[in-house]
Amino acid sequence: MFFVYDYGAADATPYLLKGKIMLKEKIENTKSLNELQELYTSTFGKNGTMTVRLKEMKNLDNDARAELNRENTELRELFKNKQSELENAALNEKLAGEYIDVTLDCEPENRGTIHPLTKSFKEAVDIFESLGYTFMTGPEIEDDWHNFTALNMPAYHPARDMQDTFFLKNGNAMRTQTSAVQIRAMEKHGAPIKMFSVGQCYRRELDATHSAMFGQIEGLHIDTIDKGINLSDLLATMRTFASRFFERDDVELRIRPSYFPFTEPSIEIDMKFGDKWMELLCGGMVHPNVLKNCNVDPNKYQGFAFGFGWARLAMVKYGLNDIRAFTDSDVRWLKNTGF
Ligand code: DAH
Repeated sequence: MFFVYDYGAADATPYLLKGKIMLKEKIENTKSLNELQELYTSTFGKNGTMTVRLKEMKNLDNDARAELNRENTELRELFKNKQSELENAALNEKLAGEYIDVTLDCEPENRGTIHPLTKSFKEAVDIFESLGYTFMTGPEIEDDWHNFTALNMPAYHPARDMQDTFFLKNGNAMRTQTSAVQIRAMEKHGAPIKMFSVGQCYRRELDATHSAMFGQIEGLHIDTIDKGINLSDLLATMRTFASRFFERDDVELRIRPSYFPFTEPSIEIDMKFGDKWMELLCGGMVHPNVLKNCNVDPNKYQGFAFGFGWARLAMVKYGLNDIRAFTDSDVRWLKNTGF
């Protein structure tokens, strides 16, 4: 059996044994990479035992040389193996320490949720865009022309009282309806046109089903008279919308006659939920005066418009009963709406 002996570093004479501790055993018993490194330096370092012996190699006979070579190779091998053994052990220890138990309960995370209004707003936008309506916007501070007069509500028209308006000192108003955007859209793009708009509107009213600031969606589809756009197109569009928005195939709608100065005839559309009818939206055939006000010839063009508050739709869809909660910023309420 072959033994490697530890020779004193300062001892240049290879055959003078200094102590009987076997180097091989020492390597085996090393517990850390640092310890191994020290041992390696004392063996193969500048004045290491083996280094010194190897320097003296030239004085040896052939057999002793071969023996020393063998010893050299074996020692290096031993160091190398021990090194990787210790490195593996260190890695395993580290991995064991970093073990993560994914089944443990964790601290509740304070994550945000998507506001139900944002969610229903996005859903509505997706649906109208997929139906070919182009998204357009207008300002929230509107002038009298776009918010009222062009919509067939000249000054002192009684219908102005239908909307309790916040007026600004300069005569402008906080937009009471996104219908103002259909005026801007036709003024800019003329007809034919198929657009929708989503935005905030303001009215001086506040109760469980009305909010002073509320989001409205407005749609407008005008084409040449020969296309024959009529009320049943409006109904079909609303049926498609309701079916997609409420994710239901069995949409049951009913219409009620209504009045809006900017449509003739005007209707309100209800949808049946269980055995209850809920008001969904309003609309009608765009009044010829409105077209004229936007330089669109009512003898050549016709079409429908519709409008609704999307908070109402969100309330119906998600079974919420107080519209004010949407803007109360109560995080507990938001969490409990389950989005
Ligand atoms: N602007 C109306 C409102 O706020 C809603 C509306 C009704 C819009 C009929 C329309 C429409 O475009 O045709 O009460």
